Amino acid sequence: MNAATPIPLTARRGGPLQGRIRVPGDKSISHRALILAALTVGETTVSGLLEGEDVIHTADAMRALGARLERTADGAGNGIWHIHGVGVGGFAQPSGPLDFGNSGTGCRLALGAVAGCAITASFDGDASLRARPMRRVLDPLEKMGARVIEAADGDRLALTLQGAGDPIPITYESPVPSAQLKSAVLLAGLAAPGETTVIEAEATRDHTERLLKHFGAKITSKPHGEHGRRITLQGQPELDPANVVVPADPSSAAFPLVAALITPGSDLILDAVMTNALRTGLFATLREMGANIETLAKRDDSGEEVADLRVTASKLKGVDVPPERAPSMIDEYLILAVAASFAEGETRMRGLKELRVKESDRLAATAEMLRVNGVTAEIDGDDLIVHGKRQVAGGGEVATHMDHRIAMSALMMGLASENPVRVDDGAFIATSFPGFVELMRSLGADLT
Ligand code: S3P
Repeated sequence: MNAATPIPLTARRGGPLQGRIRVPGDKSISHRALILAALTVGETTVSGLLEGEDVIHTADAMRALGARLERTADGAGNGIWHIHGVGVGGFAQPSGPLDFGNSGTGCRLALGAVAGCAITASFDGDASLRARPMRRVLDPLEKMGARVIEAADGDRLALTLQGAGDPIPITYESPVPSAQLKSAVLLAGLAAPGETTVIEAEATRDHTERLLKHFGAKITSKPHGEHGRRITLQGQPELDPANVVVPADPSSAAFPLVAALITPGSDLILDAVMTNALRTGLFATLREMGANIETLAKRDDSGEEVADLRVTASKLKGVDVPPERAPSMIDEYLILAVAASFAEGETRMRGLKELRVKESDRLAATAEMLRVNGVTAEIDGDDLIVHGKRQVAGGGEVATHMDHRIAMSALMMGLASENPVRVDDGAFIATSFPGFVELMRSLGADLT
């Protein structure tokens, strides 16, 4: 895929960022909408789907597994996806390996969905995905009756999974706070008779649960301990097609939002951003830092809370971010580190262990991104400490390590730093945020 042709990009300080935009659809919901629609009987329509490379790989995988997917467009050219599902347990044996590109979410969720079917499928991805842990998902799926036929060292991709003909419902206490892991178990549990339960010590994003409800499954979620949840799914439901409107991705909105906060004079409105509390730890943290983020209109789309947000340039101060907030902002620490660099004083982000196994080792990469641009940052165990001085020298070249969020974070830093910031490869931005450069330019950003 895009690994072949690097696209270096440079961000320079310029005027304020101003305008009203809608960032692309939420990545987590887009993957889930396609996979769950593929397991219904009948036609589901999805609008607002993120048409980034990650989600397109999931769409291709659903086709390879027997679902029918078509894209039409509305009057404004926005994609409308029509998915004709095969029913729970109804995936067909794919004729070749399923390629998930850069996407851990697409791959791990599909592993769960395939684990409940009487088929064998091979899973593969790019060099970044091949380096990421899959054992965490395979453990519960094996308990449910699936079998790993073949895998690379450390049970990584490329791997071949034989789904369970008669999946066994389980109660699984998740050892890591991972929505992908939880979702894989629930998706496999769809095909199992009786109740499948996932217990998580820390609540993670609940889009799978919400969408399962939206498609007619019986699923309950109860508090467990101080920060956790106990989720129980009734197996073998007939999932009914139900149209889905995908809200804008808060993880993508985070980039222009932080750019506006750190660029003097900026005034920006972000439309229809999903504000599910299990995703908005960044907004809470930024508000504690003194950010002006105003909620304009609130509404509900396909079972998710959505709001228009207005953000204006703000004087930020350093804060202490507690570890229990990590699941609600796990993809946002890179861009928070950029905000922290422009704040006054120290920001300590606690409990970032999971950052080491993302598209890259994001803990190391964040510290490196800051250091090459003149910001003092340290890693202390699983914590990241940023010493903010209200201004950033910039002038560094940032290695993106096949990681879209490193590229976008570094570029946002360059919009407000004294010297330009360059990234070695912006190609991976297309995995999650197609049109990023053009959209940022429409707000006045100097990106070349
Ligand atoms: C996601 C869950 C998170 C997140 C990823 C998307 C999801 O990963 O980092 O970008 O859609 O379920 P983990 O489940 O590994 O924490």
